[in-house]
Amino acid sequence: MLAENTLVKEAYAALENAILYYRGQPVGTVAARDPEAVALNYDQCFVRDFVSSGLFFLMQGKPEIVRNFLVEVLRLQSREPQLECFQPGQGLFPASFKVVEREGEEYLTADFGEQAIAQVAPIDSCFWWLILLRAYVKATGDLKLAHRPDFQHGIHLILQLCLEARFDMFPTLLVPDGSFMIDRRMGVYGYPLEIQALFYAALRAARELLLPSGSGSTYLQAIETRLSHLTYHVRKYYWLDLKRLNEIYRYKGDEFGALAVNRFNVYSDTIPPWSIEWLMGKGGYLAGNLGPGQIDFRFFGLGNLMAIIASLATASQAQAIMALLEQRWQELVGYMPMKICFPAVEGQDWRTITGSDPKNIPWSYHNGGNWPVLLWLLTAAALKTGKVELVHKALAIAEQRLLDDQWPEYYDDRNGRLIGKEARKYQTWTIAAFLVTKALLANPEYIALISFDEESFNEESNATACTV
Ligand code: GLC
Repeated sequence: MLAENTLVKEAYAALENAILYYRGQPVGTVAARDPEAVALNYDQCFVRDFVSSGLFFLMQGKPEIVRNFLVEVLRLQSREPQLECFQPGQGLFPASFKVVEREGEEYLTADFGEQAIAQVAPIDSCFWWLILLRAYVKATGDLKLAHRPDFQHGIHLILQLCLEARFDMFPTLLVPDGSFMIDRRMGVYGYPLEIQALFYAALRAARELLLPSGSGSTYLQAIETRLSHLTYHVRKYYWLDLKRLNEIYRYKGDEFGALAVNRFNVYSDTIPPWSIEWLMGKGGYLAGNLGPGQIDFRFFGLGNLMAIIASLATASQAQAIMALLEQRWQELVGYMPMKICFPAVEGQDWRTITGSDPKNIPWSYHNGGNWPVLLWLLTAAALKTGKVELVHKALAIAEQRLLDDQWPEYYDDRNGRLIGKEARKYQTWTIAAFLVTKALLANPEYIALISFDEESFNEESNATACTV
């Protein structure tokens, strides 16, 4: 049981107040209940946002709302193959949903991104749904739900959507800009780390939940192969530390053929000067993105933390990421855990990369803002790597401000000192992240709901596979 202090009580009440009911049943939580701001779509339940609330409800022994959410969101999954560009592709999950009333009946309507600002389809929703389904099964033992034919079919459709060969031939997933938590233009198209880490965790969740009968066995085999290629690729090519930076610095360009060392033809001049200063000693991290001729050297919080939690990063890489976090605490955590990405893009880069987006000005919102929702991921990563003292430190910072500031969505400025310029108050995933952190600290074994153990895989077979 959590200590019943005021902060927890207030958070709990705010979370209860965010619950969304459908035909009398709790089915999710709205993104924010800010009494002073226009709701826009913040009165909807976002799939990615609900994961923080869902985890807390599971930890509280209240799985009904999570079960209802999983069932209803599955019903909203796009089921038909599409040859029509304005319809969501088969297998896609919505970004958010809301309850509408027609002729005295309640219905759920989904938004696949077509209503949202920038109109990007949410690639991460189906991954979060799978990750939460696995957490639900772990918390309740109710494997029957995941084994239901509609759930198995839903999982097959997700896998079909992600594993099918398309225009590129990388183990990572190719996605448009803004197709995940960062849902506006931020130069995160291509192969962003966050999507790869969620993809990895979702594949591992699917492997635990799929029945081997029928087409299940084909999917299971495909998952196995993809997991090992994906793991190898991210661990080897996304990794950045001083040693690796030095390798990149001495890369030769334009190498032809299968034996090329500089596989993605990255030119050493693309190394941003800040990164040379920034990396030190044992610290390291996974790059934000990797594609042809491109490494995005920015540090992205969610991708790196999720890579630790899901064991996409090796145990020593996980330690190095945590070491970096400690070394760069003021920049990555500062006055609110923690930065969504570092550093911000500024000046001409901001103009070209964000399209002069006034919401994503340097050190605000997605462009280097501090997001309290990341606190629970930081907590889980720190507990997994044995760094409990970092959780206490981060939580102490968050506790000082969150209630007084009325649970903002994000903070601005280089070190997260200011409440976000356009941040919502009473943002549900901020509240839930605080509660999940408290619950994880009180019962560290809850980490099993979200984490995956490290697996060994055959490095040699991957190295060969990648060169053919
Ligand atoms: C913003 C965030 C997105 C979040 C949504 C609802 O659009 O960028 O990640 O899901 O708000 O909170």
